[in-house]
Amino acid sequence: MRHKTPSIPTLLVTGSNGQVGFELRRSLAPLGRVVALERAGCDLSRPDELRRIVRELRPDVIVNPAAYTAVDKAETDIEAAYAINSVAPGVLAEEAKTLGSLLVHYSTDYVFDGRKDGSYVETDKVNPQSVYGKSKLAGEQAIAASGVQALVLRTCWVAGAHGSNFAKTMLKLGRERDSLRVIADQFGAPTTASLIADVTAQIVARHWLSGRPAAFAGGVYHLAAAGETSWHGYATEVLRMAAALGVPLQANLEQIEAIPATAYPLPAPRPANSRLNTSKLRETFGIHLPDWQQGIRLLLDQILN
Ligand SMILES: NC(=O)c1ccc[n+]([C@@H]2O[C@H](COP(=O)([O-])OP(=O)(O)OC[C@H]3O[C@@H](n4cnc5c(N)ncnc54)[C@H](OP(=O)(O)O)[C@@H]3O)[C@@H](O)[C@H]2O)c1
Repeated sequence: MRHKTPSIPTLLVTGSNGQVGFELRRSLAPLGRVVALERAGCDLSRPDELRRIVRELRPDVIVNPAAYTAVDKAETDIEAAYAINSVAPGVLAEEAKTLGSLLVHYSTDYVFDGRKDGSYVETDKVNPQSVYGKSKLAGEQAIAASGVQALVLRTCWVAGAHGSNFAKTMLKLGRERDSLRVIADQFGAPTTASLIADVTAQIVARHWLSGRPAAFAGGVYHLAAAGETSWHGYATEVLRMAAALGVPLQANLEQIEAIPATAYPLPAPRPANSRLNTSKLRETFGIHLPDWQQGIRLLLDQILN
C-alpha cells in the first residue's frame, strides 16, 4: 500500500538572533521547514520588505519574537520603537490573515502599570507607563484589529543562553565585585527563552498543525514560569546556584544588598508588579509551567558549560 506523504509546513521566524528567536530555531525544527531570519535578512522597520518576504515564502505559521527591546533607549527613539513593535506586527498580521496562516507574537508585562495587588490576568486593564510598553500594546492592538488567527504570548523577565539578560549580568558582577545592590521591591517570574520557545512549539504542533485551525483558541495569553520573586531574590538564587556549581565568586550571598527601585532610577519606569497569571494558557492548551528556579538552573548549566 502506498502512503501519501504529508506536506511539510513552513514556519517563518523573525529576529532569530534574539534570546527567544534563537531557541525557536531549535524548538520549531521538528515541526517543519523553519526559515529563521535575523535582522539583516528580515528588517521589521521595512514594511514593504516584510510583505515581500511573507508573500514569497507563504509560511503556514509566522513566529515573531523580533522586537525593539531596548526599554530605556525607546524613551527617546520613539519612532523606531513603534515601527518595530507596532507597525511591523500589524503588517505580519495582515499578511498572515490573507494567507490563512497563524501568527505567533510576544508581548510584555510592561503593558500594565504594575499597581495591581496579585497577579495580572489577560482581561486586566492595560496602562503602559513607558514608550516600550505603549509600543508593544499598540502591536497587540494592530494584531487584534486585523482579524488574523493569532497567539499573543505576554511574558516577563526573559533569560536565555543566547543574548544578554539579568542572570548573566549577576553572574558577571558576582565574579567581579565583593558586594552587589539589587532592587527588592519589583516582583515577577524569571522565564527562560527555552521555556517560551518550547511552549510555543507545543501549542503550534498540537493545536494548529495537528488540530483544527478553525477551532484554534487564539488571543492574548500570559506565559511565565511558575512562582515569583524579586530581582534581589533572583540575583541571590543565581549566585547561590553558581556557587553550588563551583563558580568562584567575589560576592558572598550575605553581601547582596536589597534596595528600593527609587535608589536605581532609569529612564523608563518598570512595573513594580510583573506577576502574570498563567491559568488561561495552562487550562486552554494543557501546558505545564515549571518553577522559575528549575529553568534558571538549566540555564546556568548551559551558560557555565
Ligand atoms: N527580554 C525580556 O525580558 C522580555 C520581557 C517581556 C517580553 N519580552 C518580549 O519577548 C520577545 C522576545 O524578547 P527577547 O528577550 O528574545 O528579545 P531580544 O533578545 O532583545 O531579541 C530581539 C531581537 O529582535 C531583533 N530586532 C530588533 N530590531 C529589529 C528589526 N528592525 N528587524 C528585525 N529584527 C529586529 C534583534 O536583532 P539584533 O540581534 O540584530 O539586535 C534581536 O535579535 C519580544 O517581543 C519582547 O518584547 C521580552
